[in-house]
This record gives sequence, structure tokens and C-alpha cells, in this order.
Amino acid sequence: MKKIIIAIDGFSGCGKSTTAKAVAKALQYTYIDSGAMYRSATLHFLKQSTNLDNLDEIKQSIGQLQLEFRVNGEGGAQKVFLNGIDVEEDIRGMEVNTQVSRVSKIKEVRVQLVNMQRKLGKAKGVVMDGRDIGTVVFPDAELKVFMTADLDIRAKRRQKEMLEKGKEVSLDLIKQNLSDRDLQDSTREESPLKKAADAVELDTSNLAFDEQVNAILNLAKERMN
Ligand code: DC
Repeated sequence: MKKIIIAIDGFSGCGKSTTAKAVAKALQYTYIDSGAMYRSATLHFLKQSTNLDNLDEIKQSIGQLQLEFRVNGEGGAQKVFLNGIDVEEDIRGMEVNTQVSRVSKIKEVRVQLVNMQRKLGKAKGVVMDGRDIGTVVFPDAELKVFMTADLDIRAKRRQKEMLEKGKEVSLDLIKQNLSDRDLQDSTREESPLKKAADAVELDTSNLAFDEQVNAILNLAKERMN
């Protein structure tokens, strides 16, 4: 069976990353979380106190951004390292959540991260999730999935996920953040979130986790032949 690229795009909090991870594991593919890259760039700017209204500062700061994915021993969990430091936890906090869409709009940031993403996917056998994977990063991906889910369901899932990590955040705040990001991500000028014409839409509102993973695995198997 040939190795393919699986692009999974969709709104915030649809379960793209947990689904993509499980799909990659089942196929023994590499999972790449492109959102973690935008989150890490955001954390980098916050740490460097980069003025996001100053393009020269942004360019200088992004030149000092070094990202790496490392697979951790226990259960093979993947962690993102920013300039050699494990930031997997820090990039999931509310501070990054509120700034990341602003950073994702910046063309210079996107150009650099899209280059990295294409290099990571060059050998195929990858599952990458994000907002522009099927439209911009890999327009020739053999399988493109566009995930959606009802906003209330997404917010509850995200709250549960955060609680499991010891972070207590109100449902209203999460809902507000998700809908703000959806709006910013889908209306920005640079690579807005949209369904690629040849993507398969998967509404996960009423699907159990295994069902959504299996739906993608079935499509992947078709495309591999
Ligand atoms: O998938 P996520 O929620 O971790 O992504 C965080 C933010 O990064 C999201 O609000 C938009 C941005 N993003 C993007 O613009 N393009 C991608 N390919 C992935 C994420």
C-alpha cells in the first residue's frame, strides 16, 4: 500500500488533534500538530515581548524561533520543543489561546511555518492537522478531511480536556474563545480556514471517538490502494 498524506482541517476544539493522533498511530504514520507550531510561535513572541504591530520586530524574533517535535518514551507522546525547551504544556494555556489567532494572521509567520510543515511531510506517511493543511500546505494530499462539531459540544469537550490537565476554566470563557478563534481563523486574509473543494466533511457532534477515527481510517485505506 502506498504512503499518503492525510490533511485534517477544521474549527477549534473539534477533536482534530486527538483524532489525527489515533489515526497516525493505527497506520504507523507520523502525526504533526501544526497548531502546536503556531502556538509555539505565539509563546516565543510573548516570551520575547515582541511588539506584534511591528513587522521588523516580528521578523527579527521569528528568525530566532527553533521548533522541534520529539517523541517521548512513555506511550510515544509527542512534545514540542521551542528553542530546546519543552513547551507542550505552556502552549495550551489561556494566554496563548487568546493571542494565537492574532499571530496566525501574520504572513511572515505563516511562510516560515508552512515551509517547516512541507519539509516534515516530504516523505509522506503523515497525518497533519490544522486550518490550511488541505488548502495551502498540501493541496495535493491524497486524503483531506474537514472536521466540524456543534460549538456547545466543542466547548464541553475542551473544558473536560483542560480539567484533566488540572486547568479549571469556565464554559462561557471557553465558548467565547472558540467562537472568537473560529471567526478570526476563517475571516483572515492569509490562508483562512475553509473546506478544500475535495475535502470530506466529518461532523463529529454525535460521533463517538472511535467512530470518527474509524471513519477516517476507512477513507485512508481507500486512498492508499
Ligand atoms: O489547532 P489549534 O487549536 O491548536 O491551533 C491554534 C491556532 O493556530 C488556531 O486558532 C489557528 C492557528 N492555526 C493556523 O492558523 N493554521 C494551522 N495550520 C494550524 C493552526
